[in-house]
Amino acid sequence: MNQISQTLDDLVSRFSAAVSAASDERELDAARVAFLGRSGEITVIRRGIGALPSAERPTAGKIINDVVATMEEQLIREAQRIQLRAFDAELATSIDVTFPAPASRLGTLHPIRTMTSTICTYFERLGFAVVLGPEIEPDYYTFDALNIPADHPAREGFDSFFITDSLLLRPHTSPMQIRTMEQHQPPIAILAPGTCYRRDAVDARHLFQFHQVEGLLVAEGIHMGHLKGVLTGLCRELFGPQQNVRFRPSFFPFTEPSAEVDTTCPKCKGETTTCNMCGGSGWIELGGAGMVHPNVLREMKYDTDVVSGWAFGFGIERLALTRYEIDDIRRFYENDPDFSRQLR
Ligand code: DAH
Repeated sequence: MNQISQTLDDLVSRFSAAVSAASDERELDAARVAFLGRSGEITVIRRGIGALPSAERPTAGKIINDVVATMEEQLIREAQRIQLRAFDAELATSIDVTFPAPASRLGTLHPIRTMTSTICTYFERLGFAVVLGPEIEPDYYTFDALNIPADHPAREGFDSFFITDSLLLRPHTSPMQIRTMEQHQPPIAILAPGTCYRRDAVDARHLFQFHQVEGLLVAEGIHMGHLKGVLTGLCRELFGPQQNVRFRPSFFPFTEPSAEVDTTCPKCKGETTTCNMCGGSGWIELGGAGMVHPNVLREMKYDTDVVSGWAFGFGIERLALTRYEIDDIRRFYENDPDFSRQLR
């Protein structure tokens, strides 16, 4: 009897070591067969019962059964452990199809496009029509009809790319004034954004290809006050509610009087003398404007006793440089998506 107990103790500790070392179901089953299987160690011990005195046999049978029950419980626990480990391993290498996908990197509108559409939206709200025209123009639309005759020195200011003697890449959007007036009678209110070209050397402020937006309003009783009001509204839309607009006397052949238009420096609000955006002047130059020259209106067969109008032309890159506080115009065309993404 004592001997059976001792054999069982030894067996249980070997069984326990074997099953807890099993690293998969196959090893675990091998241990089960070796100890609890039909010809396993327990069976051998059971057979030994027959050699005991008959009074001891029931007790011996019960001891063996209890041990077997404990062994089977441990077997179940170890099987669970192995199953869990296998599950963990599978989880670590598997793909969770329910996991949210990483957001894809969407592109953005180019800042010049964003700027253009902000300007268009403002003018459309005021009732202006947005019109687009060709980038290759005859010199008539580019110069002659705009009161810049062939020998006029102002032509020199538009250092243009000529395609033939009389066809050129438009150096400004002002030809759209002529194209519109040629086809329509007053009242006229248009906005013409578009690409322009000039033979300028590229630097931080100049490109040979850039964008302008042209505005034209022709009707009865139009005066410069309307111009200033509309442009002040535009600057407040683009740069903030505190913006003001100032006109400086200037010259353009197609306007009289003519003005250079400045707006309050949005960075320093005109309050410092050391601002690197406006050079301390407190003002940022936007472009040209003025009352449409009577010669231009007459060329369009408009009655200058009845109608008058104003026009302006602004550089869109110039506006964007100011709005986004960028110091080099070339940044817009380096095709760097991280750059555009910052300027939404
Ligand atoms: N077209 C001129 C330029 O590119 C800008 C300009 C000035 C346009 C005055 C206008 C204007 O409509 O009235 O330099």
